[in-house]
Amino acid sequence: MQSIKAQTLFLIGIAGALLMMTTMEFRGKAERNGLTTVQDSIPKLDSTTGLKIAPGFDMVRAQCTACHSSRLILQYRATREGWKERIRWMQQKQNLWDLGENEPIILDYLAKNYGPEKKEVRREPLQPIEWYKLNSK
Ligand code: HEC
Repeated sequence: MQSIKAQTLFLIGIAGALLMMTTMEFRGKAERNGLTTVQDSIPKLDSTTGLKIAPGFDMVRAQCTACHSSRLILQYRATREGWKERIRWMQQKQNLWDLGENEPIILDYLAKNYGPEKKEVRREPLQPIEWYKLNSK
């Protein structure tokens, strides 16, 4: 009895180890083939600013959170042009400095991560509508 139990446990252990090895092998293969898992594709947020961690993040954090909270950035959506206008406005009215060669990096980050939100898809209104009188009788 005792040895059968031990044997079963041993076999379960081997099976588990094999399963783990296959899973790791699969992930390794997927990574080598350039595939990403769902988890990998969710952008990570910086815990202090809430900004997406993506190329240009460090620059934006350094240049754009000196005067105000990152919240102003998070709640704003614009195209690259729109962001550029906002930056010009801050430069003219709010003493924002010349961003120099960092500007394109910042604009790329903003347009890519905080671009215009996709419009809600709504169906066209029904047309033409034939109205009819309700019979009150
Ligand atoms: C020199 C200070 C300063 C810096 C640096 C700065 N801003 Fe601003 N920004 C302001 C001020 C002042 C306002 C207006 C705040 C308010 O309305 O309360 C503002 C407002 C904003 C707004 C809100 C605009 C709106 O109309 O709602 C956004 C978006 C913004 N800034 C983005 C940025 C980005 C992106 C950067 C980095 C390139 C940046 N800011 C760097 C001073 C600055």
